[in-house]
Amino acid sequence: MPLSLPTSIKSIVFDAYGTLFDVQTLDAFLKEHYGDKSQPINAIWRQKQLQYTWLRSLMGRYEPFSNVTTDALRYACQVQGEVLSASLEQQLVQRYYTLQAFPDTLSSLGKLASSVQLAVLSNANPEMLEQAVHHNGLHPFLTHILSVDSIQMYKPIPAVYDLATQAFGLEKEEIVFVSSNTWDVAGAKSAGLRVIWLNRYNGNLEELGIEPDWQISSLEEIILT
Ligand code: LAC
Repeated sequence: MPLSLPTSIKSIVFDAYGTLFDVQTLDAFLKEHYGDKSQPINAIWRQKQLQYTWLRSLMGRYEPFSNVTTDALRYACQVQGEVLSASLEQQLVQRYYTLQAFPDTLSSLGKLASSVQLAVLSNANPEMLEQAVHHNGLHPFLTHILSVDSIQMYKPIPAVYDLATQAFGLEKEEIVFVSSNTWDVAGAKSAGLRVIWLNRYNGNLEELGIEPDWQISSLEEIILT
């Protein structure tokens, strides 16, 4: 269903992984090395990657997302009883730098950028994020590429979402944040932004008592009048 955003919205800010870039495309590469275990390894890898960001924020022990991603991969292979050589570890983590965008990403961002300013706001450290953006040809459409690295704390700490308002010099109500990650949806909404939940896989919201403003299933549904 098309979603026509109110004219009060002055910029759209996107989460990166799962929203613009498809983490599941790593399955095919993992399969070459881990066969039937590729899916569980990828799922645990992503789950641990996120958990480690939350734990590190709580402990006040920030490490760049590329290191957190490496640690999570090590954990996933260990728990699945699989060997991870140093060179394969490097190759796999490197895949995050050139992660494929979802098919709706390039065309949607291109269309939206002609009406409002766009940005990406991610846990990824700048090198990781900028390479993925460039690899997919998204840079011409993004006014800002925002990384939590500038404040050394991870989502969903409210200060992370303030990076968007600060970068654009806008009020919170003038920004809409788009994420497929339900915990990120809750975080952004809790921090005061307006939020679109990109429900790509017909999933469920978190039971946190926080609802997004809108829900879509593809980026192509966002329309600006
Ligand atoms: C990000 C992850 C959490 O890009 O998807 O911030």
